[in-house]
Amino acid sequence: TASTLKDIISHAKEYGFVFPSSEIYDGLQAVYDYGQNGVELKNNLKTLWWKAMTMLNDNVVGIDAAIFMHPLTWKASGHVDSFNDPMIDNKDSKKRYRADQLLEAKAEQYEAEGTPEKGKALLEAMAAAMTADDMSGLRQIILDEGIKCPISNTANWTEVRQFNLMFSTQVGAVSEDASLIYLRPETAQGIFVNFLNVQKSGRMKVPFGIAQIGKAFRNEIVARNFIFRMREFEQMEMQFFVRPGTEMEWYNKWKETRLKFHQAIGLPAENLKYHDHEKLAHYANAAVDIEYKFPFGFKEMEGIHSRTAFDLTAHQELSRKKQQYFDAELDENGKPYGNYIPYVVETSVGADRLFLAILCNAYTDEVVGEGENAKQRTYLKFHPAVAPIKAAVLPLVKKDGLAEKAQDIYHALKRSFNVTYDDGGAIGKRYTRQDLIGTPYCIAVDYQTMEDETVTIRHRDSMEQERVAIADLRDKIGFAVSM
Ligand code: GAP
Repeated sequence: TASTLKDIISHAKEYGFVFPSSEIYDGLQAVYDYGQNGVELKNNLKTLWWKAMTMLNDNVVGIDAAIFMHPLTWKASGHVDSFNDPMIDNKDSKKRYRADQLLEAKAEQYEAEGTPEKGKALLEAMAAAMTADDMSGLRQIILDEGIKCPISNTANWTEVRQFNLMFSTQVGAVSEDASLIYLRPETAQGIFVNFLNVQKSGRMKVPFGIAQIGKAFRNEIVARNFIFRMREFEQMEMQFFVRPGTEMEWYNKWKETRLKFHQAIGLPAENLKYHDHEKLAHYANAAVDIEYKFPFGFKEMEGIHSRTAFDLTAHQELSRKKQQYFDAELDENGKPYGNYIPYVVETSVGADRLFLAILCNAYTDEVVGEGENAKQRTYLKFHPAVAPIKAAVLPLVKKDGLAEKAQDIYHALKRSFNVTYDDGGAIGKRYTRQDLIGTPYCIAVDYQTMEDETVTIRHRDSMEQERVAIADLRDKIGFAVSM
């Protein structure tokens, strides 16, 4: 499976999906750029998420908050004090590791060796050690397990230190503490601090939600697995504000809704699963991950968290601005529910992780035909709704008016969706080029087109062709690419 991820990474680069950042300077670790096809795919995912959250729910609206926020935001949210990763250095190789990841790798090794109970015990011991005030217990487990640095092959470790993941910078010209600000490590806080702005200006009634898509930044110590863990990434988050006591009902609803979304955009049910958190963060009373089966195993793609009134209460305390909502609805005694700080159910998915899941799922490398005719075929099996390019218009030959006819069709279709035109080289080669970037439909214009106004549609996955009237093209493709 390791080679599969490698194949996907090189395919993503070769066909304009994802490039290493500032590559001519040998790249910047854990930072990536999206290319001409990647940006289309990512935009499609973001638009589908946005529509699913805002348009298809009566009571969810969107915002776009700034990346920079008042520094007290991150004090209130707990990020200044506890958004830390435990890190450890090997004294010989001078390499830095995340202590918990070293132990997780060891637990995976136990599992692979057929002793999963040892792995489970190790993870439990690790979880307990990580809640302690000092991290010496965590280091002790690493020593007891005899974990060695893969570079130096020694177990000569430093103490475990807590490392805050927030990036900071300064506003203004003077570098004083007061002007220190952070790049947001999650988009959620931009929603919390705007809760009353949106509620009042939109006359929103609880339960309601606020959705947002935007960049977030984390100084991840160990960045691994391509765009799975990046230092600059994008989140798609929604906070749903509910009456206290009703949060579990909404938590279960969103848990279900979000899983269905991933299936609707083409991720197979068998590659998705829930992973309930046994250990909850300080702010949560329930939390679950939706995991996807990446080439490196089932890993978190989205989190759904019941965050109680933690964030709004903390902001109320630090800002001294009431974060209350007046609920005029009557309870069973006929009295209004009155003032309260709403509870929050959050859904949070990484746009880049979803992108990676969609790309891994689409990447298909197979042998078609048999015997002497057997051929290797690589293509991207995207759901038409997420595919960067929906259709390619290809004249069989350039002469006899076929190119002009194909151009007409191309210009008519491009008002409705992202289509491309290609008249260079043999038609088979042109089909292959579209397969490699995952275009679901190739529209071929041939001599029959000039007689009866029909074209062939060639389907990417089956490679089958069908004859269709030009007049029906827009509806036929439009139906498949919309959701
Ligand atoms: N507001 C809640 C929150 O931020 P999280 O579990 O820390 O929760 C939510 O992050 C999602 O953001 C993750 O499930 C993942 O998809 C994405 N994410 C987090 N860190 C990431 C990173 N370093 N690179 C890419 N995506 C990341």
